[in-house]
Amino acid sequence: MIDLHSHILPGLDDGSQNFETSLEMARLAVESGVIAMVATPHCVGDRTRAVRTAVLLLRDMLQEEGIPLRLYMGMEIFGTADTARLLLDKRLFTINNSQYPLIEFSFHTSGAEETRILREVLEAGYRPLVAHPERYDYIQEDPELVNQWMEMGCLFQVNRGSLIGRFGDGARQMGMELVKRGFATVVASDAHSPTKRTPWMGDVRELLTEEVSPAAAEFLLLRNPRSIIRNEELPPVEPEWF
Ligand SMILES: [Fe+2]
Repeated sequence: MIDLHSHILPGLDDGSQNFETSLEMARLAVESGVIAMVATPHCVGDRTRAVRTAVLLLRDMLQEEGIPLRLYMGMEIFGTADTARLLLDKRLFTINNSQYPLIEFSFHTSGAEETRILREVLEAGYRPLVAHPERYDYIQEDPELVNQWMEMGCLFQVNRGSLIGRFGDGARQMGMELVKRGFATVVASDAHSPTKRTPWMGDVRELLTEEVSPAAAEFLLLRNPRSIIRNEELPPVEPEWF
């Protein structure tokens, strides 16, 4: 599996707080079948230098410790009116320098401002991967927004925690709905620690394999994330998978 959303870098946000914890998270991910991970600390403004330094340091440590996890640069960008401009100025990282930025929004707003921000990012030439839409109040209340954003060209990342029920029934149902209707592009851990919101992906792979299909699990956990990291177009969805 390839995990596109993690807070594995130490000391940059509410995720890992030291390198020891980061290594513990990496070991757990590998044990559950993850081969590559994108480090996506929360970012609003320019934090490129801090993120790059932390990724390079952690990569060295992974190698020293013999942990077979490939680590890529990324950010979980909090979408604002400045996002498109900062992306164009290269002051925000997309996922592994691809055309795909991971963008999150506030949990409780109307969705109107978000639509404007996504449109600007698309017009700037990027394809936004919207982080955990199933967790946003306004999406749960008005799922039609997902349809609108998809038609604009957006992609969607569903959280493992939502699907296994960690964020309540609303997020679980919405997450499953996005997967089963073929809206979800990838499922990722959004891991914050080795004990609470962990990078363990084995359970969600099992769940997707059993409740949807083995092909859908592979599509969401390996094929699509791999295409995004390689900055390729995404493989077409086969309706019989869902
Ligand atoms: Fe996150």
